[in-house]
Amino acid sequence: MSKQIDPCTLVLFGASGNLSRLKLIPGLFRLDAAGRLPDHMAILSVGRGDVAREDWHKEIKGMLDAKFKNGYDKQVFERFLNRNHYHANPPTDPNAFEKMRDRLSDEKVFPQNLAYFLSVRPTDFAPVVEQLSAVGLLDESKYWRRVLIEKPFGTDLASAQDLQSKITKHLKESQIYRIDHYLGKSAIQNIMLTRFTNAIFEPLWNNGHIDHVQITNNETLGVGERTTFYEATGALRDMFQSHLLQTLALVAMEKPKDLTPDSIRAEKIKVLESIRPIDLENFNKQVFRAQYAAGRVCVGDGHGENVPGYLEEIKRDGLGDTSFTETYAAVKLFIDSPRWKGVPFYVRTGKRMHEGNTAIAIRFKQSPLELKQGQHHNWLIINIQPRECIKIEMESKIPGLDIATRTMSLDGAQRQQGDETIDSYETLMLNLMEGDPSQYLHISEVEAQWRLVDQIVNAWAKDKTPLHQYRAGDRDPKESSVIFEAEDQFWRYSIELGGDAH
Ligand code: BG6
Repeated sequence: MSKQIDPCTLVLFGASGNLSRLKLIPGLFRLDAAGRLPDHMAILSVGRGDVAREDWHKEIKGMLDAKFKNGYDKQVFERFLNRNHYHANPPTDPNAFEKMRDRLSDEKVFPQNLAYFLSVRPTDFAPVVEQLSAVGLLDESKYWRRVLIEKPFGTDLASAQDLQSKITKHLKESQIYRIDHYLGKSAIQNIMLTRFTNAIFEPLWNNGHIDHVQITNNETLGVGERTTFYEATGALRDMFQSHLLQTLALVAMEKPKDLTPDSIRAEKIKVLESIRPIDLENFNKQVFRAQYAAGRVCVGDGHGENVPGYLEEIKRDGLGDTSFTETYAAVKLFIDSPRWKGVPFYVRTGKRMHEGNTAIAIRFKQSPLELKQGQHHNWLIINIQPRECIKIEMESKIPGLDIATRTMSLDGAQRQQGDETIDSYETLMLNLMEGDPSQYLHISEVEAQWRLVDQIVNAWAKDKTPLHQYRAGDRDPKESSVIFEAEDQFWRYSIELGGDAH
């Protein structure tokens, strides 16, 4: 169901940056091609340098050529270029925002509902909001004004609250769109829909039937060129703080009373706020961190590639030769609610792992009829990427004379031939223009997430034991088993049948 979008202007701060070139501009083009942008919709790209409109159009062509190697519709291209404008906003110019306001005041070119996408350095979020406000560009008395804030929203609870207090001097909560691109992924949106549009799951979705839940994001990629960012961030803040906790919230939340943004977010807030704080007395049984050493990873075409360790990479980039930054983090969480009492949620993320995969794997309790010792548990796997699918592992009779079973895997592809392939940013930009914040984070979600992460980061900061090293391309370090509650629990290493055997 597509929603009505008012005539509007999308103002893209940081337009010459990587995100904008690789995802946002091509994403907007795809939305245009799909007929999802209103006729009266303009894009004003804002960058530091001076670029003439024709030159910016040439740059856009370069971005689209790089993205759509098989070509694209020339008519849509012309229409898209007509929407696109460029504005230089040099940081050295004290009147820069006044000039932007004057530029935007041309109503014939720029519809006056304004959505700002702040793809800028996190330290610039508050100053940009302050300056927009100072020149009246956030005033909603006649038109709506919305601000999308890229991640991270703070680097801990205190800085998130500080940012919040600075921007709420100028913005109402309903104007603020805090992004987590995972929420724009179709397979992530499918978690809630699968749970609540099928009658078969809800009766089983609780501690009476579920033994434990594993939420995984593994990547074969390393930190690449982003060493400075990563040294200051680490896996926990980079992936776990929002992407994985949001995934957990969707798995564990109660049914919202309807699908309005307020109802969905209210249930997510409740579940995030009921995650039990980390038990600092038993910290090392709940949290595990490690760092990749040199090794060999699988690259796209199935071949192996030798890759350096994390310490070598930071040394290469002049960041010293010791580091306590984790590239692998595993955390056990409990949710204090009647539904989840006693069910561990094991959440892990790692770079340079044996395979790249994001999944939710749910293991059910042992079946009432055990035909053989160590009989396989039922698993439900919701795979997010690279393949969007849902799998159920179950026991089934082996045809023949004997009463014996084996495990089979029912594999349901979520994606069928001909289905749209959309990038999460496309969905989220559309939601921004539609005024639908359901797939964006409420400040209470951000705060609950930081509260939990801060506990771990602070405990790690005091611990100067060298980090456990794992070889790039390996499965989870076996030492991470310290966080498991039961001896027969350990990470699934793949979503394929047998992926739970270690
Ligand atoms: C980003 C992190 O937010 O998410 C990256 O900064 C990570 O380190 C990326 O690689 C993963 O996103 P996706 O969509 O590729 O799973």
